[in-house]
Amino acid sequence: MRVMQLPAFGLDQLQMVSLPTPEPGPGEVLVRFQAAAINYRDYQIVTGEFAPAADLPIVPCSDGAGLVAAVGDGVTELAVGDLVCPLFFPHWQSGEAVGNERSVSSGLEAPGTLREFGIYRPAELARAAGNLTAAEAACFPCAGLTAWNCVHTLAGIGPGDWVLAQGTGGVALFALQFAKALGARVIISSSSDVKLERALALGADHGINYVAEPEWGIRARELTGGQGVNCVVEIGGEGTLPQSVAALHRGGHIGIVGYLAGIGLGLTVFDLIERNASLHGVSVGNRENFVAMMACVEEQRVQPAISAEYAFADAPAALADISAGQHFGKLVVNIAED
Ligand SMILES: NC(=O)c1ccc[n+]([C@@H]2O[C@H](COP(=O)([O-])OP(=O)(O)OC[C@H]3O[C@@H](n4cnc5c(N)ncnc54)[C@H](OP(=O)(O)O)[C@@H]3O)[C@@H](O)[C@H]2O)c1
Repeated sequence: MRVMQLPAFGLDQLQMVSLPTPEPGPGEVLVRFQAAAINYRDYQIVTGEFAPAADLPIVPCSDGAGLVAAVGDGVTELAVGDLVCPLFFPHWQSGEAVGNERSVSSGLEAPGTLREFGIYRPAELARAAGNLTAAEAACFPCAGLTAWNCVHTLAGIGPGDWVLAQGTGGVALFALQFAKALGARVIISSSSDVKLERALALGADHGINYVAEPEWGIRARELTGGQGVNCVVEIGGEGTLPQSVAALHRGGHIGIVGYLAGIGLGLTVFDLIERNASLHGVSVGNRENFVAMMACVEEQRVQPAISAEYAFADAPAALADISAGQHFGKLVVNIAED
């Protein structure tokens, strides 16, 4: 089988190698990957920025989807032909992570999805919603689940609520789609008017250009009629949090996801007290969350925004493109169609 391996840090170090196709033992499942999806973390892992002490070689990319190709003795949970996704944290099944449940992640400590086949235990996989193609299903394990947990699990967003999502990357557009599926209204911020038009076409109620309007949080509050938003999906961190708080309704929630604008907080306690605000650190999610998300995806026919697709051999270009930041939604690598 073909595997894209990283024997040393650097995008130019990625190489396609040929390895024996594994066979499932008792209690194991063989997955034939159809597609992988790129997250910014994958790029940081490949360049060595994310985990410089990581053991090499790495098979990059946490996210993907594939068909069950064979099952070992005793496997009853999955059958040949099922479309499945590997979990971002294969050992974190439910509740708050305890012990070492989050010590292994796909595409870093465990082999990722840039390979034709992988062996998993059924609990390390979850079925994809029936309305999804493999390329679409591949987009959910990290970006989709992170957005779902911000909007639904932690903020409990429902009809009539307001959600503010920053940017037009994978997490933000999933937040947009889940919020709309849950009956909420959505404001998207972006550096690009063209991307804002696309976000409106995808269902956003309002768009704000955060470069043209540095006080975009205050503008977002105005757009809600002055009450503020019930949930912010926080992509920037230090450079964006003050405006996120300015946008917030009393009792509102901020899901802290990324730090593209700095790792500090840049707030006073009074900012939070005044709004009875809840700040939630978010680290993707567990299997139980994933199953709940896929039920919503199937019921509401959610289909991710795929910005571009690449052949397997072009995975390095897909990783380079996520850092270039021109994308709208997800970048997908087709593993099976090369
Ligand atoms: N904690 C977790 O569990 C978790 C999970 C997934 C991702 N993350 C992190 O969350 C961040 C976003 O992930 P992603 O997959 O959505 O990345 P992505 O697809 O690369 O999208 C990033 C987008 O963020 C927007 N952005 C950048 N700087 C911004 C700023 N100062 N203010 C507002 N928006 C800004 C840009 O949107 P425009 O081009 O429209 O301006 C950019 O396209 C990354 O830092 C990632 O590492 C964390």
